[in-house]
Amino acid sequence: MTGYQGARTITFSIYKGGTGKTTSAVNTAAALALQKKKVLLVDLDQQASATRYLGFDPQELQYNLYHVFYQNVPASVVRKTTKFGFDLLPSSSLMAAIEESLEPGDEMLLRDRLQPLQDEYDYILIDTPPGKAALAFNGIAAADLLLVPASAERMSVDGISDLVNHVQEIFWHKFQDALKQQEIRILFTMYKANTKHSPGVVQAARRIYQSNILDIQIPETIEFPRSFDKRMPLVHLLPNHPGAQSYIKLARWIIDYA
Ligand SMILES: Nc1ncnc2c1ncn2[C@@H]1O[C@H](COP(=O)(O)OP(=O)(O)O)[C@@H](O)[C@H]1O
Ligand SMILES: [Mg+2]
Repeated sequence: MTGYQGARTITFSIYKGGTGKTTSAVNTAAALALQKKKVLLVDLDQQASATRYLGFDPQELQYNLYHVFYQNVPASVVRKTTKFGFDLLPSSSLMAAIEESLEPGDEMLLRDRLQPLQDEYDYILIDTPPGKAALAFNGIAAADLLLVPASAERMSVDGISDLVNHVQEIFWHKFQDALKQQEIRILFTMYKANTKHSPGVVQAARRIYQSNILDIQIPETIEFPRSFDKRMPLVHLLPNHPGAQSYIKLARWIIDYA
């Protein structure tokens, strides 16, 4: 992008749960780091799945995003270095308290808190919790690019339109200046290539969202839950596996086009 300065912020968001937000955020962060990019991953979910995926026990960390939001601890103090060549702003169950106390109008809080780190990274990736809730809204409002992970199944188009319509009608209206460059791309996950169903779902979505549907699909494979259990991104655990390769392709797409 011309005239662009500081990190590009990419938020993984869809209100539906269990569609691959955390898996995508973690593996994309790891894949970008493998491409020598400086990456910060922000875990906004009180379930702290991304934090756990990266081998941290949320209970044992002194600081997490709660302290960034409410105790004025700088994000630079709270961040942790992962074993995988990138940094993490960890989450914990304390994040529930933030969710409780955020009010309409507080959507830009995270964007403000991340501002001091902008120049230290090439990419800031944000993993959001499911549901139409304040922390997810903060993740959306901080994004230059929204990546929408949708599982390649029948009802997924509803989940996509729920997010896309809400963002375009509410966010782009309310925060016109800040979000005028924001882009949305849809990433199909849990894709079963050897069925008729998954390609059909992507085709149907493409009729509506056209070039906003990425050409990269993430295959469905048991290796993703396994990699979570092993606390290691699949791009490290099995770098040649098609699942890992799909996130490596996504990282290349981000570097070239996003
Ligand atoms: N491509 C995939 N193939 C198979 N299972 C997947 C895939 N992506 C994610 N999963 C699994 O599906 C579950 C939900 O994924 P997750 O990334 O946690 O979704 P979300 O963050 O949207 O709730 C997890 O158990 C995860 O390991
Ligand atoms: Mg998640």
